[in-house]
Amino acid sequence: MTFRRGVLIVLEGVDRAGKSTQCARLVQALQQNGRRAEIIRFPDRTTQIGQLISSYLEKKSNLEDHTVHLLFSANRWELVPLIREKLEQGINLVVDRYAFSGVAFTSAKPGFSLDWCKQPDVGLPKPDLVMFLQLSPEVAAQRGQFGAERYEISSFQQTVQQRFEEIRNDTSINWKVIDASRSIEEVHTDIKSASEKTIDVAQHLPVGELWR
Ligand SMILES: Nc1ncnc2c1ncn2[C@@H]1O[C@H](COP(=O)(O)OP(=O)(O)OP(=O)(O)O)[C@@H](O)[C@H]1O
Ligand SMILES: [Mg+2]
Repeated sequence: MTFRRGVLIVLEGVDRAGKSTQCARLVQALQQNGRRAEIIRFPDRTTQIGQLISSYLEKKSNLEDHTVHLLFSANRWELVPLIREKLEQGINLVVDRYAFSGVAFTSAKPGFSLDWCKQPDVGLPKPDLVMFLQLSPEVAAQRGQFGAERYEISSFQQTVQQRFEEIRNDTSINWKVIDASRSIEEVHTDIKSASEKTIDVAQHLPVGELWR
C-alpha cells in the first residue's frame, strides 16, 4: 500500500464571503466520507504573535504597516512545523485564509507592491488547491454590517478585492473561483467536489513550496 499524505486546501475571499462557514462544512463532509481532516485558521490569534495581531485588528494597539505584514507572515511560519506534521500523518488540512489574504490586505495599503508583500511567504507549504469565494461588495453588505475591526471598511475591502484579482493571475497556483452568492449548500457542493478531486490527485505528490 502506498502512503498518502494529507492535502492542503485553502479558502480565500473578501470579508463575509463565507470562508469560515464553508471550512467547517468541508471538514465535516470529508470526515463523513471517512477521511481525516482538520481546520486551521489565519491569523491564529492564540499564539504570542497572534495576540499582537489580534490587538492590532481590534484597534487596541497600533503597529507600523511593514511590521504588521511581517507579523502576519510570521504567524503562518510558526505553524509550518505543525502543518507539515499533520500532512505527513495523512491529515487533510482546510485552511481559513493564507498568504493570499496577507498579500491582498497589505498591498491594498498605499506604497506596497505585490512583489514586496509576497516575499516573506515565499517557501511556505504550497496549497494543493486555493478556492476563492467570489462575492460582490453589494451582496456581502446584505450579510450584515461590518464590525469594529480594522480593515472592516467597504472602500478598503474593494481595493482588497482588486488585489485578489491580481494575485489570481499567478498560474503557479491551483486556483478555483467559486460563486459564493449562492446558498450555503450549493457553494458547499462545489467546494466538496473540487476538494475530493484534489485529494485523489495530490495525495500522491510531494508538498510544493509557495511562490518558488
Ligand atoms: N451562502 C451564503 N448565503 C447567505 N449567507 C451566508 C452564506 N455563507 C455564509 N453566510 C453568512 O454570512 C456571514 C459571513 O459568513 P462567514 O463568517 O462564513 O464569512 P467569512 O468569509 O469567514 O467572513 P470573515 O472574512 O469576516 O471571517 C455569516 O453570518 C454567515 O452565516
Ligand atoms: Mg471568517
